[in-house]
Amino acid sequence: MTPPRNSTAARDIAYALHPYTDHKAHLQNGPVVISRGKGVRVWDDQGKEYIESVAGLWCASLGFDNERLVQAAAEQMRKLPFYHAFTAKSHEPLVDLSEMLIERAPSPMSKVFFANSGSEANDSAIKMIWYMNNAIGRPEKKKIFARLKGYHGITLAAASLTGLPANHKLFDLPLPGFHHVSTPHHYHGALPGESEEDFATRLAQELDEAIIKEGPETVAAFWAEPIMGAGGVILPPATYFPKIQAVLRKHDVLFVVDEVICGFWRTGNYWGSQTLGIQPDILVCAKALSASYLPISAVLVNERVFQGIAEGSSSIGTWGHGFTYSGHPVPAAVAIETLKIYDEMGIGAHVGQVGAHMQKQLRARFADHPLVGEVRGTGLIAGVELVADKATKKNFDPAQKVGIRLTKIGEQNGIILRSMTNDSIGFSPPLIITEEEVDEMLNRFAKSLDEIAVTVRRESLAAV
Ligand SMILES: Cc1ncc(COP(=O)(O)O)c(C=O)c1O
Repeated sequence: MTPPRNSTAARDIAYALHPYTDHKAHLQNGPVVISRGKGVRVWDDQGKEYIESVAGLWCASLGFDNERLVQAAAEQMRKLPFYHAFTAKSHEPLVDLSEMLIERAPSPMSKVFFANSGSEANDSAIKMIWYMNNAIGRPEKKKIFARLKGYHGITLAAASLTGLPANHKLFDLPLPGFHHVSTPHHYHGALPGESEEDFATRLAQELDEAIIKEGPETVAAFWAEPIMGAGGVILPPATYFPKIQAVLRKHDVLFVVDEVICGFWRTGNYWGSQTLGIQPDILVCAKALSASYLPISAVLVNERVFQGIAEGSSSIGTWGHGFTYSGHPVPAAVAIETLKIYDEMGIGAHVGQVGAHMQKQLRARFADHPLVGEVRGTGLIAGVELVADKATKKNFDPAQKVGIRLTKIGEQNGIILRSMTNDSIGFSPPLIITEEEVDEMLNRFAKSLDEIAVTVRRESLAAV
């Protein structure tokens, strides 16, 4: 349908280049224009209401109308709307937020560096590691391992960490020196009859062999999300990370944990690292750090990494890295308020209770659905993977766009859904969601799933 001339939608088609969008299709279909939000809901410019089942992009942790965050931004804007952190300048929000993050870190950390997005934070961490290894006299130790289906962002180096085809194809990526090992997804990756434990052992061996093949003296770091988000909400076996970390220690390879989605209670603990048994050397976070009311991300480094950076910067006279907006006082003030709200409202206990309810309901209502292959998740993050054949775990042909079509049906039914690789539907609602709202969200999802099932049957796309 062509939107009315001069409408927001028509002007969007005329002028906007959207992230993650098929642009030829967009010229035909146009945008959904979101105009306002409240709690776990948003409304479009036609007045239609939606439940945000993914908190925007896994990020609006406190929902869409938190007045304390608005106040924190306004007060900081009046007091000091901008200052930078270059050449040893500082300001109170930067210092307070750094201290709060170090106090909350899942393993001993030394210093915090701020950026504006998850991608920039991951890029910064790569540069820190390269710089450190040059500074301490091991310039050959630069290669980086990440995982297929991992998501770490889209800047040149962060996209090279990412293990998804859409982020590489036509972009001439990944850059040299980035390697990807297997996805720790037992459902698809296990050999016939292989236990989760044996699967984890095999993946750790694969990493060990890959590092040895490259030469451990050339391998600097391993990158991982505790639970893969954009790759389809993939939980590794319980012993996967302990086994991986033993390999990394053996070869003196740093562990960088990407907590951009999992951080700040999403998985039921403050950090995904705590849920999955990870002791990182470097931690990257963003999104729920400021409840996404303003852009800010952070890289926490341990003392060893900091010493390497300090060494290099003292030999050169400066550490030639930093963004104009690193630690910008307004997002930093909003992040401080966000962390205070998490503490004061006991969001961890809330996620424990509502997350358990969401996980139970998802399994009870959808695990037996003919189109559902696997329901997985913990805390307030979950994935429901659609399959063409439940018995063989065969996914739909991507060209059939079953997941994407489900999201369109969802919109008609008042729910914003996210479909990822293998038609995995992600759930990551605002952390403030209540049990009643979870039920309402799942009712709208159930209706949409039944509707796509009718289409799938009509088009004979599935085995049943
Ligand atoms: C785990 C993870 N890392 C990094 C990023 C990139 O963050 P940004 O989009 O802010 O650059 C994302 C974004 O979704 C993410 O999920």
